[in-house]
Amino acid sequence: MNYNELFSKVVSRSKASAIRELLKVTARPELISFAGGLPDPELFPTEEIEDIFDTVLSKSAREALQYGTTEGQNTLKQELIRMVKETENITITPDQILVVSASQQALDMTARMFVNPGDSIITACPTYLGALQAFQVAGADILGVASDNDGVLVDDLKAKLELLKEQGKPCKFIYLVPDFQNPTGTTIPQDRREQILELAKQYHTFILEDSPYRQVRFEGTAPKTFYELDGGQGNVMTMFTFSKIFVPGFRLGFIIGPAEVIRKFVILKQAMDLCTSPLLQLVTAEFLHRGLLQNHIKRMIEIYRQKRDLMIKTLAEYMPQGVSWTHPQGGLFLWLTLPKQLDATRLLAQAIDHKVAYVAGVDFYPDGNVFNDMRLNFSYSTHEQIVEGLKRLAQTIKDNL
Ligand SMILES: Cc1ncc(COP(=O)(O)O)c(C=O)c1O
Repeated sequence: MNYNELFSKVVSRSKASAIRELLKVTARPELISFAGGLPDPELFPTEEIEDIFDTVLSKSAREALQYGTTEGQNTLKQELIRMVKETENITITPDQILVVSASQQALDMTARMFVNPGDSIITACPTYLGALQAFQVAGADILGVASDNDGVLVDDLKAKLELLKEQGKPCKFIYLVPDFQNPTGTTIPQDRREQILELAKQYHTFILEDSPYRQVRFEGTAPKTFYELDGGQGNVMTMFTFSKIFVPGFRLGFIIGPAEVIRKFVILKQAMDLCTSPLLQLVTAEFLHRGLLQNHIKRMIEIYRQKRDLMIKTLAEYMPQGVSWTHPQGGLFLWLTLPKQLDATRLLAQAIDHKVAYVAGVDFYPDGNVFNDMRLNFSYSTHEQIVEGLKRLAQTIKDNL
């Protein structure tokens, strides 16, 4: 059987994620990995989860083990509505929220729902590579907007929107990770958010706000979300996930937006997976109901802040001149820029020989033409691994200068 003759065009547009491929290599125990976006497993609230599983199975087994509604279990939705009110000052009704199998599913669904092959969308440059992957599978024509340490540049965004307008091509949406962005760790300040939102309105497009790291803030005050700034006028859809603030293994997140769009998402999700696991939704709802999430996040912030500080201190100690990095106020990553002549992809093989790994920056660029930066994760490794891994990385870089 020659399957190549049978595959759809979607297959030819699907590109393996550099990170997920790399994760196979970095699973080797002798290797120190700054590559994945993994939470620290030491922090997983295993005992609480175990106890809650017992409670849910003894009290609600028939609901937990049955098929659920595509929209999401009511118990969880009520908790989520309360949570976004308390933490984000966002008021929504049950028809404005959909529970999803974590935010990667929401990215895939958004792409399917808005993008025909050849349609244009705008993202930051660089941006989260899993989003690029989902958009590319849908056949999106992705325009990257230049960024600085405060996220996308308003002038360049305007220029890109104007360019599309001149070409008679609508911009289907603007995808942003406004808080502690993956990969750079940067946050868009509130005044810039207001300008970006105005541009979206002016050019009749919407903002897809993806904010997995927002609650992992070490210091400073959070700017308002795009969703709050829009005041529920329907120009923003926002995705949150439990992957980074609770456990990624539950594959649980949610998207909020205008009721008419959420309804379309529901119908699409029916065809994709019928529903997100009711058991895991009820366990998460109970975790929220017991008020455990905020304490868990507080503990996580304390630990990750120390790791970020250690990473920055160690970088300053060992990195050669000409190497620079971002100073994120939260999240899981920082972004390291090498002298122009170095190619982080080529360096990676040598780094892996030295038993340290990272993700080369090129994979985060829609047009893939910047080669001298890399993403470093600080949440997963231990303190000892951070110091030793960065020594190895610095040596690899020095060997190539
Ligand atoms: C910006 C961003 N969006 C979405 C995801 C996907 O996360 P999940 O599907 O686990 O919610 C990630 C994961 O790293 C991410 O960094």
